[in-house]
Amino acid sequence: MILAPSLLSANFGSLDKDIDMINNSMADWFHIDVMDGVFVPNISFGQPIIKHIGKLAKKPLDVHLMIVDPDRYFNDFKSLGADIITVHYEACTHLHRSISSIKALGMKAGVVLNPHTPISVLEDIIIECDLVLLMSVNPGFGGQSFIENTYNKISKLKELILRRNPECLIEVDGGVGLGNYKKLIDCGADALVAGNAVFSSENPIETIKQFKSY
Ligand code: DX5
Ligand code: ZN
Repeated sequence: MILAPSLLSANFGSLDKDIDMINNSMADWFHIDVMDGVFVPNISFGQPIIKHIGKLAKKPLDVHLMIVDPDRYFNDFKSLGADIITVHYEACTHLHRSISSIKALGMKAGVVLNPHTPISVLEDIIIECDLVLLMSVNPGFGGQSFIENTYNKISKLKELILRRNPECLIEVDGGVGLGNYKKLIDCGADALVAGNAVFSSENPIETIKQFKSY
């Protein structure tokens, strides 16, 4: 199982310390949430912060773009150190072109689905995807409650993946914690994002270890 702590829940007053903690933990990726205040009702951070993270991070950067017209920034994010870029189905009119552009830059590419978007929309794009990110909350904020229908979506996505592109990974983002991660893995999730569950815990290193021990 891949664990990707979300830096959205990190302490930005001592970001270097939190980056270091992830570097020294059993976590696999840095999950980086980019929000534009248009696609989602919140603004997070942009290129200068990501540049800083990229310099210090010793693990792959998993960049989740919650922005309209994300294609404008693929080059930027590549040069800042992104290894994986995921874009929202709901934000890309020419999704095939977006996914192809990310891969042409040498990064892994994934499609993100909001909680209301059915798995069926992936039927034709799945063959191009390195991963699919299922939102298990409405994107925009950390610390929200997990939407239970996600289990059902993971199972449906797993079926599609086995039929069309067995290499494709399933990542789940939002409200993931020590109370539900086992069930998510049992349903077929390969990668889990955890913000609040890691950074609000008393001992983040231990919490990460617990996630990784299943
Ligand atoms: C929400 C973001 C998530 C968020 C998860 O829009 O995409 O990555 O940071 O935070 P938690 O794990 O606290 O729900
Ligand atoms: Zn995210």
